[in-house]
Amino acid sequence: MNWHTRYLQQAAWTRDLRNYLFDKAGLDGAERILEVGCGTGAVLRELNTPAPLHGLDLEPASLTQCRIHAPAASLTLGDAHSLPYPDKSFDIVYCHFLLLWVSDPLQVVREMARVGKTVLALAEPDYGQRVDKPAALQPLGERQTQALIRQGANPFFGALLAETFHRAGITLLETGPIQGAEAKRSLWEWENEWAVIEADLAGFVPGEDIQKMKLLDEQARGRGERVLHVPTFFAWGKT
Ligand SMILES: C[S@@+](CC[C@H](N)C(=O)[O-])C[C@H]1O[C@@H](n2cnc3c(N)ncnc32)[C@H](O)[C@@H]1O
Repeated sequence: MNWHTRYLQQAAWTRDLRNYLFDKAGLDGAERILEVGCGTGAVLRELNTPAPLHGLDLEPASLTQCRIHAPAASLTLGDAHSLPYPDKSFDIVYCHFLLLWVSDPLQVVREMARVGKTVLALAEPDYGQRVDKPAALQPLGERQTQALIRQGANPFFGALLAETFHRAGITLLETGPIQGAEAKRSLWEWENEWAVIEADLAGFVPGEDIQKMKLLDEQARGRGERVLHVPTFFAWGKT
């Protein structure tokens, strides 16, 4: 599984929302910007601003790739639970598909609020509200949710995002589900989705069962009956 390809796909889902939110958050006038959990730089590389960009991640391998994809950014190896920056040292601090992966999301959001003046969480899914159609593909959704839990994620965090911001003392300005994020899927995107599913389920679901579900998925898509929707939430506010 090429994770950068996956992150690029997720970044494409949220591009319109990001442009809207960064505009409202004052990206144009911002002097310092930080992405917490920047991964391979799928979002950081797209930020269109002359302001200094910073990225922080726990994984050295991700930062190595991020250096290639977002060469202008200053990168730091570190833990989002304890950000190595002074109070209010960034105009904008944001994250994208991060909080479901951390052990204490409230602590991470508190840290983002401590170092930033404006805080954005751009995309946090809630797999508890996932929709799979036709019904025969519902077990696929359930198994993928279990796989995320096994990998250490909280796949239901999206539903807790707004209250986490509130508990961290952030004045919420806007929150809600991202509309139509992954509704349009090209053949390439479906292939990539299946690469993720196969990686998630390998070793836990017999290969034969995975291939059966893949065939069902393909046939349902051929009939125009396939729906796969994972409500994904955003929130932003001021500290
Ligand atoms: C799903 S990836 C998203 C990467 C990037 N934000 C994007 O959207 O392309 C989550 C990233 O968060 C990082 N991460 C997870 N826990 C972290 C922590 N406690 N501190 C910093 N980074 C963390 C992972 O290493 C990974 O790169």
